This record gives sequence, structure tokens and C-alpha cells, in this order.
Amino acid sequence: MKFFVDTAEVDAIAELNDLGMCDGVTTNPSLIMKSGRDILEVTKEIAAMVSGPVSAEVVALKAEDMIAEGRKLAKIADNIAVKVPLTWDGLKTCNVLSAEGTMVNVTLCFSANQALLAAKAGATFISPFIGRLDDINLDGLDVIDEIRTIYDNYGFDTQILAASIRSVNHAKECAMIGADVMTAPPEIIKKMANHVLTDKGLDAFMKDWAKTGQKIL
Ligand code: E4P
Repeated sequence: MKFFVDTAEVDAIAELNDLGMCDGVTTNPSLIMKSGRDILEVTKEIAAMVSGPVSAEVVALKAEDMIAEGRKLAKIADNIAVKVPLTWDGLKTCNVLSAEGTMVNVTLCFSANQALLAAKAGATFISPFIGRLDDINLDGLDVIDEIRTIYDNYGFDTQILAASIRSVNHAKECAMIGADVMTAPPEIIKKMANHVLTDKGLDAFMKDWAKTGQKIL
């Protein structure tokens, strides 16, 4: 499973990228707002840092305007994936930009039927939002599972990019289901390394090692 980092904070991206834990980056208008950076500048900086796809989201609502914004964002770098919302205008935009050879990430997906439409519109990535479905007492992971089945039934190339990941359990379940990619905040990716028995075991090893009086270096 590929790991995309869900942030516009360049330092956090750099740390994970240096570790080989960053196969791409996703941003959205809220993350750009949180970073306090200019969208064009920060997207250019991120796209130069990572080799994988960097999603930059349009903010227009009409297809014609979304297409114009998407073309401008796509010019930032070759690894830009233009992010469009899963609306009818977003699907039209996906169809046009995909035909031009631009990677498109269709976002704000909350159902398998929406994902089916995105695949037919030529999306490179579909972003189902797990956490936001869980927030309204639905099961976001069920939607990932349904999309996996539908895409496999018909051999769609669109990659399932599990988004709105809020816990390490979401990450594990997405990997079990077979999501192609997950995009998660840096802190969730780092938390995946934690285990109480690792901490306990390391503590015991350190105590025993101290008793030997030895040094390796
Ligand atoms: C990424 O593409 C999404 O915009 C992001 O994962 C949404 O996450 P949130 O629901 O935690 O805001």
C-alpha cells in the first residue's frame, strides 16, 4: 500500500519523505488554510520535494472554471494530481483533464456508486472519506470494501486512495481490504510504529545491558 501524507506542512512531509514513508502528498483547501501558505508556492515546493503525486484541489464549482483552475495547478509540476470534488461538474472536469493526460484525484467520495462514476470518468484516484462517514455513524471501511469489489469486478484502473484516516486501525483495515493508497496525517503514520510491548521490551533490554557494563561503540 502506498502512503500519501495528508498535510501541507513541508517540514512534516520532508521528515517522512527522507524515511521513504512518503509516496505522495494530498492537500485540500482546509490544509492550505492551516499551513498559512500560498497554494501555488507551497504546492510547487512540495512537488519538488517528493517524487510521487501531489494533490492540489480546485475551488471553483462550475466545470468550466474547475477545468481552468485544474490546468493552472497541473502546470506547477509533472507530478501534480488535480483534485476535484465528486459533483457532476467535478466528474466533467475529471473527464476533460484525464483525457489531457493530467492525473485527477476525485475527492469527497462517500459511496461506492460515486466511486463507480469517478472510475468511468477516468479518475486516477478516488478518495473515499472514512473518518467523516464514521462521524455520522456509518462505516467508512465498508465503503472502501465495496469499492474494492466493484473496481476488481470490472478491472478499473482507478486507485482507491483511502482518505480521512483518523486512527492506526483505519490504516490497518485499509491495508487488509486492499486500498491502493492511504493518505494520513503525519502523526497517524508515525503512531503506526508504536506498541506498548515494544516500549516494555526495549526498557528491559536497556536495563539488562546496563548491568553488563559493555559498550558497542
Ligand atoms: C484528503 O485527501 C482529504 O482531504 C482528507 O483526508 C480529509 O480528512 P479529514 O476528514 O480528517 O479532514
